[in-house]
Amino acid sequence: MGVEDRFGRPLANLRLSVTDRCTLRCQYCMPERDYVWLPRADILTFEEIETLVDVFISLGTTKVRLTGGEPLLRKDLPDLIQLLSRKQTLTDLALTTNGILLAEQVSALRRAGLPRITVSLDTLHADRFQALTRFDSLPAVRRGLEAATRAGFDSVKIDTVVIRGVNDDELVDMLEYGRSLGAEVRFIEYMDVGGATRWSMADVVSRQEMLQSLSAHYGPIAPVDERTTAPADRFTLSDGTVFGIISSTTEPFCERCDRSRLTADGVWYRCLYARSGTDLREPLRAGVGVDGLRQLIGNTWQTRDDRGAEDRLASKDRSRLIPVETLQSQPHLEMHTRGG
Ligand code: GTP
Ligand code: 5AD
Ligand code: SF4
Repeated sequence: MGVEDRFGRPLANLRLSVTDRCTLRCQYCMPERDYVWLPRADILTFEEIETLVDVFISLGTTKVRLTGGEPLLRKDLPDLIQLLSRKQTLTDLALTTNGILLAEQVSALRRAGLPRITVSLDTLHADRFQALTRFDSLPAVRRGLEAATRAGFDSVKIDTVVIRGVNDDELVDMLEYGRSLGAEVRFIEYMDVGGATRWSMADVVSRQEMLQSLSAHYGPIAPVDERTTAPADRFTLSDGTVFGIISSTTEPFCERCDRSRLTADGVWYRCLYARSGTDLREPLRAGVGVDGLRQLIGNTWQTRDDRGAEDRLASKDRSRLIPVETLQSQPHLEMHTRGG
């Protein structure tokens, strides 16, 4: 039987981070010079992940998204995908990647049974890409993304974080690029998550603004009439092109949020903004067993009352969430540890 939290939100959607390491240093996520990594011995094995996923499934989870850091850095990832793609009750399995290693791995991912994929890409200008990520990897990402669109996925999406003065003049170009590849673009409001140590409200381009600038170019934009638990609200241009906007910063979707997050070392968070999580690795390795884990996860979810993004919206002087020093001593507060 599925379990619900205090607001009747089901435990339907699990974001599974398979590594905290990343090949890029995006300004909105990992802008610092140095990071403290999770100890290798703490990283869950695929067998341990499978045990936990089975428990989540027994409590109502039907969707799993693999995240990082950069998930394609995890050795033998296709083996995990194969394990998960065999679970009949998972109706959705997806992966979010920065795309750098995608061209070389895409066939193996497909062969392992990965149905859909999302690639993060914020700019089509090489100099901006370098400034935003500290690496010269735009050609590699484009190769990866383009390979993905030829690989037969059910869907390929592009996630674009929009930042004022950085890439807010590229909305039309990104949409056109996505359209040329048959990939759905989702524009994401810059969020004040842990890790975003340079965040300021002045840099956020709101959903309202994005819609205004897109309709100045394309004419009327219609909302797609659907009610989902996904963070993206979808829209259509008059020619039928569909795109999404994720407005977690100015119009949060906490009310219907059915997602939780498991870090690569087995700490489970009930909200992207939560200060503390539940360590599942320790009981798992201590041999608590499936029933014990089921009870722990189920009971914890039932007490969930998190509405982190709404709380942020209500806070008076909104500035970056967590100071750098705190992040250094508590890497679990980082977005790249929790899965982007
Ligand atoms: P789809 O099922 O393809 O719509 O996936 P998704 O939108 O869940 O996945 P994706 O990894 O592409 O998430 C897109 C972005 O939405 C993330 O990178 C975050 O910026 C934001 N987001 C994801 N999960 C949460 C969440 O739990 N809370 C908030 N506030 N924002 C989130
Ligand atoms: N604001 C919005 N999205 C973010 N991500 C990471 N940090 C932020 C942030 N500060 C998300 C982006 C990126 C993915 C890996 O994580 O969607 O594409
Ligand atoms: Fe869910 Fe927390 Fe994100 Fe709100 S802020 S959508 S409750 S994870």
